This record gives sequence, C-alpha cells and structure tokens, in this order.
Amino acid sequence: MTHPSNNPSSESEAPAAEPAPAQSPEAEANPPAPDQDPHVSGYVLSRWLWTGYLKKHTWALVAAFLLMSLEGSMLGALSWMMKPMFDTVFIEGQTGAIGWVGAAILGIFIVRALASIGQKALLARVSQMNAADLRNDLLTKLMRQDGTFHQTHPPGFLIQRIQADVAAVNGVWSAILTGAGRDLIALVILMGVAITVDWRWTLVALIGAPILVAPSIIVQRFVRARSREARDLGARLAVRLDEIFHGIVPVKLNRLEDYQARQYAQQTDELVRAEIRSTLGTAAIPGMIDIMAGVGFLGVLIFGGAEIISGEKTVGEFMAFFTAIGFAFEPLRRLGSVSGTWQVAAAALERIKELLEIKPTLVSPSNPVAAPAGMPGVSLRDVHLSYGETPVLNGLTLEAKAGQTTAFVGASGAGKSTVFNLLTRLVDPNSGHIEVGGVPVGAMTLEDLRNFFSVVSQDAALFDETLRENILLGRTDVSDARLQEVLDAAHVTDFVQHLPKGLDTEVGPRGSNLSGGQRQRVAIARALLRDTPILLLDEATSALDAKSEAVVQQALDKLAQGRTTLVIAHRLSTVRNADNIVVMDRGRAVDQGSHEELLARGGLYAHLHDLQFRTDGRSADRMALAEARNQTRRRGEVADAEDAGFFRRAFLRLFG
Ligand SMILES: Nc1ncnc2c1ncn2[C@@H]1O[C@H](COP(=O)(O)OP(=O)(O)O)[C@@H](O)[C@H]1O
Ligand SMILES: [Mg+2]
Repeated sequence: MTHPSNNPSSESEAPAAEPAPAQSPEAEANPPAPDQDPHVSGYVLSRWLWTGYLKKHTWALVAAFLLMSLEGSMLGALSWMMKPMFDTVFIEGQTGAIGWVGAAILGIFIVRALASIGQKALLARVSQMNAADLRNDLLTKLMRQDGTFHQTHPPGFLIQRIQADVAAVNGVWSAILTGAGRDLIALVILMGVAITVDWRWTLVALIGAPILVAPSIIVQRFVRARSREARDLGARLAVRLDEIFHGIVPVKLNRLEDYQARQYAQQTDELVRAEIRSTLGTAAIPGMIDIMAGVGFLGVLIFGGAEIISGEKTVGEFMAFFTAIGFAFEPLRRLGSVSGTWQVAAAALERIKELLEIKPTLVSPSNPVAAPAGMPGVSLRDVHLSYGETPVLNGLTLEAKAGQTTAFVGASGAGKSTVFNLLTRLVDPNSGHIEVGGVPVGAMTLEDLRNFFSVVSQDAALFDETLRENILLGRTDVSDARLQEVLDAAHVTDFVQHLPKGLDTEVGPRGSNLSGGQRQRVAIARALLRDTPILLLDEATSALDAKSEAVVQQALDKLAQGRTTLVIAHRLSTVRNADNIVVMDRGRAVDQGSHEELLARGGLYAHLHDLQFRTDGRSADRMALAEARNQTRRRGEVADAEDAGFFRRAFLRLFG
C-alpha cells in the first residue's frame, strides 16, 4: 500500500487508549462547509501527491518530460525556419533552398508528432496507475475508520470522494506537467527566438503581461472556492442518490418520488451554478491573455512596422518574430488555464487528503498480547459509555460464562446491541473493563479479537454476488463436503435446491432476491464456516414470520452448540432455555438469572413475560407464569403486579 511519507501512521502505532467517542478527532472530519477555506497550500498538496504517489513513477515522468520538451521546442524551431523561408526562398528567390527548408519543416512536424504520442502514452499510464493507487488507499483507509466516522460520512459521500474527486485530481497533474514540460519549454524557446530577432519588439509584445498578475490571483481564489463548493455539492448529491435508491421501496410506498425529485433538482441547480462559475473563472485567465496578445501585436505593428518599411529589418525577421510570438501565446494561454485547472483539482485533493489523514481511534495496540486459548467467557465490569452527551451505558457489569448461552432482554434502547459493539470493539467505552477469555479487548489485535466472534443480526449483509460467493466470502480452503455440511446445518439446502442455478444464483444487490429468512440462513452458514468460539445473535429472528423463524431458530440452535453464545431476543420464548438471562434497563443490568428464577423474583422480566404471554397466549408460558405468580404471591413480593399502569410502563420500557 502506498503511504504518503509525511503521514507515517500505521494501524499498530496508534495508542490503544480508551478514547471517548464523543471527543474523538471525528469532529474535524466533518465535511467542512463549502465556503470555509482550510488553506492547504498548493505546495503542501503537491508535495503530498509527489511523495506519496508520483515519486515512484519518476523515470516515466522524466521520459515524458523530455518528450514534452522536445515537442515544445519544435514550435521554436518552426518559427526559426520562417527566416530562411522568407528571406532565402521567397525574397532572395533561391529555388535550391526549397528542398532543405521544406525537409526541415517536415522533420520538425514529424518529431513533434512522435514526441507528442510518446509523452501522452507515458502520462496516461502514470496517471491511471496513480488514480488507482489513490482509490485503493482511500478504500483501505476508509474501511478502517471508526463507526463514528461512518456515521458522519455517509456512503454516498465517500463514494463520491473515491470516484469523482480522484477523477478530478487525475487530469490535473498531467496537465500541470504538460504545462511545465511542453508549454513552458516552448515558451522559453519561442521567447528566445523573439529576443534574438529584436528584444525591444519582445518587450512591446509583452507589455500587457504584468497587468494580468493581480486579476489572475483573484480569479484563482474564486475558482478554488467555487470548485470546493461544487465538490461538496457533488458529495451531497451522491448521498441523496444513495439514500433514494437504497430506500426505493419506502420512497414508492410513501409516494415520495416528486418530493425527492424536487429536492434533487434543487441541489443539482446549485451544483450547476457552482460548476458554471468555476468554469467561467477557469476560462477567464486565457481570455485575459488573449486580450493582452491583441494589445501586444498592435504595439509591435506600430513600433516595428516602420523599421521594416525603412529596411532596418528583413521581412523574414519580422515573420520569424511574428510566428514566435503568435506561437507563444498559445502555450501561454494553456499555462494560464493550468492555474485554474489546478485550483479545481486542489479543491478535490484537499478533500481526499483530509480523508486519508483522519486517524481511526479504534486500532490494535502497539504491543498486543496473544489471544487467549480455550473456550472464552466474556465479562464487562463497571462499563460507562456515552454518545456525545447521551449516556448509553451507566456502570454495566455482567458476565457470560464460557460455553454457556447468555440472553439479553430489555427495552429497545436499553443498550443491548451496544454490549455487542463493545465486545467486538466497534466502539470503545469511556471507562470500565471488558474482557474476552480473561484478556482485555483492547490488549489484543483487532484481528485476533474479531476472530473470536461470529455475529448474526437482523441485517445479514449480503453482497451482489452469487450465493456461493456470499457464503465462502473469499475462502478457498473449504471442501465440498464441509460446505454441504454447513449448508445442511444452516437449512440453506432447503431453499437452494429450489433455485434453478443453485448455489450459483446471484442474490441481487444486498441480497434483495432472497427472503429475510433465507438471508438469515446464509448468515448462519457463514457463521458456521467461520466456526468461532463466541456467537453473538442480535435479534436474528425478530424480523421473520413464525414459519421462517422456526427454521432459522433450528439452524441457530445447531450453530450455538459448543460455543459461548450471547443472544439478544425480544421473544422470551427464544431465551427461556438460556443458562443465564440478563435483564437490561437504561444502560444497566438490573437483574439476571435463569428463566424460572427471574419469573419467581417478579421484577421487570416477570412483567415482561406476563405481557408477552398475554399477547402470545402460549400455554407453556401461561403455566410457567401461573407457577411463578403463585410462588411470588406466596412471598407477597409483587403487590403491584396487577397495576395496569405498571404494565404499560414496563411495556414501554421493554419495547420502546
Ligand atoms: N452510534 C450511535 N450514536 C449515538 N447514539 C447511539 C449510537 N448507537 C446507539 N445509540 C443509542 O444508544 C442507546 C442504546 O442503543 P442499543 O444498544 O442499540 O439499544 P438496544 O440494542 O438495547 O435496543 C440508544 O438510545 C441509541 O439511540
Ligand atoms: Mg439492538
């Protein structure tokens, strides 16, 4: 992976401290407002681009530069040939000179053409490879960013950065190099020819040049600001498109088409305006050079015309001068527009550099300890976590014993999923201790830590590939027999056999060709293949209908065998067999025990259970509940059990 050398951070060098998510540098990562000027100088940007990306192509670039210089210098040679063409051939009438003058001019054009083809081929190669490097680096870095980063940088925004911004950068440095190589060289040589003919004429021709300096600086600022605006608007549009297409079903069902189209059109409008302004600015500089050229020619004609008429200068000399200056304005115009193009690219480059330089805080420690062996248990001690000002966990303490099934119940928002995120280090706590197999989660490498877990949640992230690819996920070491075993255990075989292409069926974007239950079974097959010691089930069956739930539950039971399993479930019927049930309420474990113990205690769990039994009317639960009631009533502990208000409160707490 290429690394800008002035940014030598690597994953393992960052501290493994426990940063408060709220204070992470993520605040700086927020897309800056369009009109802010972060003032990254052109020098810094080009040096960064050079050391990180272009340097390794030095030889190709030197070769391209030489070819460009050759191409550029041919214009000087051509204008120089005007002198013999006019003076020797036309005016002196030496017919014999036609041959060599013509041959020389033909040769000049041929050299120019070949040099031009060569340098363009070299540049295309370097610029494409460079763009690919930038894109690969961006993707690699962005995937490693913290969860908080991805919350503030939606997918569309990042896609736009990787695709469009890199494309915007890509053209520019080759334009700059061409400018410096071909156009600057051409300019110098053409000026040399002009000065050789008459330095005073040259001065007159360029008289307008200094006047251009101030306006061109203003124009450049303007272009930079407008293109920054355009880049940000582009990213916002990409975000909107991404959200519309991802949410196409709700868009249709809520008949939001017109609304979305209006919003989009409005933002596109702004983008169009910013782009037009930026292009106008870019065009302004060559335009100004044109006007300057006109003034210069006028000056030379007035000033030099008399000298030719009086015979002080030959027509050939005037033609050489005139051609040289005429040719010179073209590279000058291009150089003028390069500065505008650079401003556009600099705006994109700034954004890319910003993204690449944000350091993730959730990284592996610099001196990781070895991952613990054996069946690991899990424990949290006095864990506090808040998102910004909002406390989510308030001194959570709990334990999930090795090889057992621990269930989590509690209202939505109680912090159950957060526990899973802490264990897998998708987020770090503000304080407290979290251990897996007796080792603090922050002490292992992220890779080792995540190798402990398989997660099955409501969202089985499927990719737009075949079913087989979605299950194997790049693994090549799985035998057909093992795969079949996994497919059977996960009940994938049940539906695969009805698919015309079997395992080679494309599942569609995000698995949209499969049903919810089928997607879950694919996720279970993946987890079986991963064969990790700890299993995290986050409402894996909540979104399913009763029939698919039953099948998925069977598969899950098989998956849980011989593992430490943590399961979050809404339906108490799925957790009643757990070895231990943790009842969570507002970021704390308020109670724990077995199903029977918790029922007997008559707390939140019992009320929740009562509620679900009323809704579900399951006879087994009813019997268990009646039994528990009798027990508790005997002890007189649930005096307010019949309080309807309490039920409502409990329901709201448990189901949000
Ligand atoms: N990334 C986040 N940023 C801000 N708040 C969050 C984030 N993730 C979760 N929360 C908040 O933390 C609380 C607990 O969330 P969660 O653990 O998902 O609850 P549960 O899984 O029990 O329903 C909720 O109030 C939720 O709004
Ligand atoms: Mg949750």
